[in-house]
Amino acid sequence: MDDFGLWDFRSDEEKALCSRFMSDGYVIEKANQKHLDIVKKFIYDAANEFIFKKKIAVNSKQYHLEEFHTFMDGPESNDLRLSVINNISRNIKFNHHYYLAAQKIIYQLCGNELAMQKRIGLSINFPHNKNDVLPMHADTWNGVSPYELNIWTPLVNCTNSMCLYILKKDTYLKLREDKSLLKLNTDDMYEKVKDNLTWITIKYGDVLAFDQSIPHGFALNQENSSHWSLNCRFKGLHTPYWDKKLGEYFMPITLKTCTRVGIDYKHPAN
Ligand SMILES: [Fe+2]
Repeated sequence: MDDFGLWDFRSDEEKALCSRFMSDGYVIEKANQKHLDIVKKFIYDAANEFIFKKKIAVNSKQYHLEEFHTFMDGPESNDLRLSVINNISRNIKFNHHYYLAAQKIIYQLCGNELAMQKRIGLSINFPHNKNDVLPMHADTWNGVSPYELNIWTPLVNCTNSMCLYILKKDTYLKLREDKSLLKLNTDDMYEKVKDNLTWITIKYGDVLAFDQSIPHGFALNQENSSHWSLNCRFKGLHTPYWDKKLGEYFMPITLKTCTRVGIDYKHPAN
């Protein structure tokens, strides 16, 4: 998109961030640590509740999210994931802390009058568990609005095959132009572009904001740690909605005064 020259009043800091996001398809920034730690505690407590309910024997009193594969089988990871999601979805405070943990980057990339995904997503990827692989896809291929910003938050340090991968933007733009990408199944697509992926190394304490219209996914985790990450979409409240509707999938979280006035407005003639 062309910029608007002299009419672009954004700060230099915001322009630089935007330029990184537009060229790489993602940026990494520091999270607000206080709120991130609360988010992680919610997840840890919900995971412990699952362990307790299922009477799973753990090997020590103090264990970390990275170690869950040491006392659970691979096939149980999806039950654990669903149980934790159901648990955290009952508490809007979780959404609030998630938003506050990434507020700075969301404001810079999306604005401050926002809609937020109601049910935050969780990925758990146990070592060598094929069921936890997320095939390459772009969310916009399935009815997701390109106006959304995906805020992806690791709860453990992610290196090598524990990382989310994203297709390099220049490769994506070339493939998009020759229209070959969507003719391939996900395995063939991965084979075709596997040398043009960025594996996004990120540590706990940072947040990743990425453009989910660029193909991305998770490969088989070949490290010795369990992968845990959260993902949640934010969008400018007044931007177009596709399949995921306001009031259902998205909730308005920072409705501004002028919008409230506009919603309540009645012309005297009516
Ligand atoms: Fe996705």
